[in-house]
Amino acid sequence: MVTVRVPAKVNVQLGVGGVRPDGYHDLANVFFAVALGDEVTATAADGVTLTCTGPDADAVPLDDTNLAARAARLLAAHHGLADPGVHLHIAKAIPVAGGMAGGSADGAAALVACDALWGLDTPLETLLELAAELGSDVPFALLGGVALGRGRGEILEALPVSGTFHWVFAVADGGLSTPAVFRECDRIREESGTGATIDDVPTPDADPALLAALADGDPVALADALSNDLQAAAVSLRPSLADTLHAGTEAGALAALVSGSGPTCAFLAKDADAATHIATALRTSGTCRTAHATYGPVPGAQVVSAPTP
Ligand code: C5P
Repeated sequence: MVTVRVPAKVNVQLGVGGVRPDGYHDLANVFFAVALGDEVTATAADGVTLTCTGPDADAVPLDDTNLAARAARLLAAHHGLADPGVHLHIAKAIPVAGGMAGGSADGAAALVACDALWGLDTPLETLLELAAELGSDVPFALLGGVALGRGRGEILEALPVSGTFHWVFAVADGGLSTPAVFRECDRIREESGTGATIDDVPTPDADPALLAALADGDPVALADALSNDLQAAAVSLRPSLADTLHAGTEAGALAALVSGSGPTCAFLAKDADAATHIATALRTSGTCRTAHATYGPVPGAQVVSAPTP
């Protein structure tokens, strides 16, 4: 049995370029790993089976579409294992379809857990390539920390960061579909007359002020530099998110933004006490289902219990 802990992410910058001929968007995506995370436990079994516990467990698919199951099969196929055998149990804390890459995190955790359970010792570079096949956000869940993602988000460069930043995440009722939010972003661009393709939208770049704020460990400067090009699209599909963002700001957050494609909202706090206060205020605000105070950056998917037969 092997247990792997894996973080959720928030995008402190999500710069979205035009839609490419393959349907993806080029990104300047600054990923930040937070302590709010899932645990995936792999146990020797016949075939690939899944179970899930946690407040959102009912919303998690337990068939072969789950990224954890796909990860187990992909790793087995890469090593020519004809008959992969693993039961994967997901202890889910990351909001489902929430814009925090929870499904991607479970895929990354399953890669690491199966690699240890099956004694494969796959190099990190190979795991990162397999992760990119699974989805744009999966490689970052392996790496953790803070990283710039280029391309569709899968080409990663670790970024320097100092200290700890304190965050609050407000969880919405129900999820948002990532493809639908990207399509809404394109629609808004078309409607505004700028166009939405790679010929119309300049390729985004990392914001130097944001990179400096991370390197300096300065939450006030980071708050000024946070940006998410998908925010308008997420709020357009779910107008009530404006109320959630407002409630967190009223409670003293340095900044508020939609996390990735949403609908989870992220709030940067000046310290741990402020984060606890903002989370309490959000929970009673009536603008979200619940709220969690957490911190980061934290490492990527890691074995937390030694493999046992
Ligand atoms: O890579 P992944 O399967 O996680 O992406 C889910 C969907 O999000 C894609 O099918 C696409 O619609 C959208 N997407 C995008 N541009 C990206 C990443 C994702 O349009 N860079």
